[in-house]
Amino acid sequence: MAARSERPHVLMMSEITADGKLTLKRGASSKILMKYMAPETEILLHETRAACDAIMVGANTIRIDNSFLTVRLVPGKSPLRVIPSSMAEIPPEANVLGKDAPTVIAVAEKAPGDRVEAIRAKGAGIIVAGKEHVDLPLLMHLLWRDHGVKRLMIEGGPTLNWHMLSHRLVDEIRLIHLPFIVGGADTPSLVGGMHIDTEDQMIRLALKRFYLCGSNLVTEYDVLYGEAGHGLP
Ligand SMILES: NC(=O)c1ccc[n+]([C@@H]2O[C@H](COP(=O)([O-])OP(=O)(O)OC[C@H]3O[C@@H](n4cnc5c(N)ncnc54)[C@H](OP(=O)(O)O)[C@@H]3O)[C@@H](O)[C@H]2O)c1
Repeated sequence: MAARSERPHVLMMSEITADGKLTLKRGASSKILMKYMAPETEILLHETRAACDAIMVGANTIRIDNSFLTVRLVPGKSPLRVIPSSMAEIPPEANVLGKDAPTVIAVAEKAPGDRVEAIRAKGAGIIVAGKEHVDLPLLMHLLWRDHGVKRLMIEGGPTLNWHMLSHRLVDEIRLIHLPFIVGGADTPSLVGGMHIDTEDQMIRLALKRFYLCGSNLVTEYDVLYGEAGHGLP
């Protein structure tokens, strides 16, 4: 794994309901919930994007939400868009492959060549990181070393969030709390992946700020992981 100093500083940012969910139900776009963010919080989201060198979301979020991931509501440059998809399964018509901002798709060595070429033909870059699956620690290092990414923001979904946390690649978390409960045992929540077995494996956070942004509560945490090397493996 790349040394902490040889990867970007990583901020995880998400809007979540009072019951910790990211969407109305499995398979639903988070754009439905995002409509209920206060205008001031939408601006905060775009300011945060503009302050980062790159923004990363999981390939499933691209397939479901068809996100643009650009800076639109404030002045500033859109960050490099980074999407990990081991087998290069990004629809050619995806908004993230449009010309609004630069994009790189991170793939594994086994990604089919025709899909990789189709992505290149749309003008996006390709980073090969990992044999079977995208190796996130390696990807972080390559973004830092070859693309000048010193500050990276991740905007979900839960699968990517879990993998980034499980590799101890997340430094800060900023949550926009939406005053709704949506329920649903299988509705995506902030972090997916595997459950933990013991309390030693809980990832510890330190609350550093909380404030109202418009009508939304925003909380900010540093990620401490565990004492003496505990936390997720
Ligand atoms: N409220 C919010 O702030 C928010 C933000 C984002 C997303 N969401 C919601 O989250 C849901 C999607 O989340 P999701 O958990 O299904 O998917 P996800 O985290 O968006 O994407 C996961 C996918 O990323 C790709 N990937 C490649 N390498 C990976 C690696 N090393 N680690 C992790 N992922 C890797 C895989 O796709 P391949 O099979 O292509 O390799 C994997 O299936 C949607 O409903 C969306 O609306 C909500």
